Amino acid sequence: MNAPAKTDEFAVQNAAVKIPDGVYAETVLSVEHYTDRLFRFRMTRPAGFRFRSGEFAMIGLMVGDKPIYRAYSIASPSWDEELEFFSIKVPEGPLTSHLQAIKPGDTVLMRKKPTGTLVLDALTPGKRLYMFSTGTGIAPFASLIRDPETYEKFEEVILTHTCREVAELKYGFDLMEEIRNHEFLAEVVGDKLKHYPTVTREDYPFQGRITDLMESGKLFTDLGVPPLNPEVDRGMICGSAAMLKDTKDLLEKAGLTEGANNKPSEFVIERAFVG
Ligand code: A2P
Repeated sequence: MNAPAKTDEFAVQNAAVKIPDGVYAETVLSVEHYTDRLFRFRMTRPAGFRFRSGEFAMIGLMVGDKPIYRAYSIASPSWDEELEFFSIKVPEGPLTSHLQAIKPGDTVLMRKKPTGTLVLDALTPGKRLYMFSTGTGIAPFASLIRDPETYEKFEEVILTHTCREVAELKYGFDLMEEIRNHEFLAEVVGDKLKHYPTVTREDYPFQGRITDLMESGKLFTDLGVPPLNPEVDRGMICGSAAMLKDTKDLLEKAGLTEGANNKPSEFVIERAFVG
């Protein structure tokens, strides 16, 4: 007697999770909240999905009967069996207001084609690779610092991460810890990777915008490296639009030129980044 009612209920539920054609529908595996503004999640990786470390993908959720997508850097390296993302939470954000509530077992959509400019192939050979990030702009570098190819190509890798508050640096510290404890990566990375975290709105031993620290030379003194030199130094930049512009200006002042996938050069910028 109950059968018709059950069928209807099932049909309604099924309609509610209808997946658009031509996209991957993946399962959330874990979620970690860092602050009221930041969280990361890991999800299953589709079998046929290939990407280069540092690229981004369009990530989405069904909101009502419509999918909403935003560009997200893939934070996991290209060899990883799972996919990781590091996200901001925007209270009224069309996607993040929903994405911040995901739990293990939920479905997240992903468009099939990854892309992006923060890839090793877009840089000419060099000795030292700087990765300049603010806020969630650390995400593509979370991928690249866990990719052995980065250390095949560069003798030294410097990850700078600037946030407003100390609590927002935790994801970066967790990554460093993970690498130190990783059975293969620890050996590949050795002492080539340097992490330079700074904050701008709280007391902390390392303070200030990365641009100011470059201009004053404090970044280089703290790291014990010479000032930027286009012969040996390469750069990747990911952050807010203002940060991209100011950092780019400083790299150009030092004589580095911007590259792209089809024209490798001395530094690259991710402009698709959503802060
Ligand atoms: P500040 O606190 O001085 O604005 P946001 O959350 O606004 O994207 O900022 C993340 C971090 O990036 C903050 O520490 C912020 O510093 C810094 N930042 C913002 N704009 C710039 C810029 N134009 N150049 C360098 N750093 C910046």
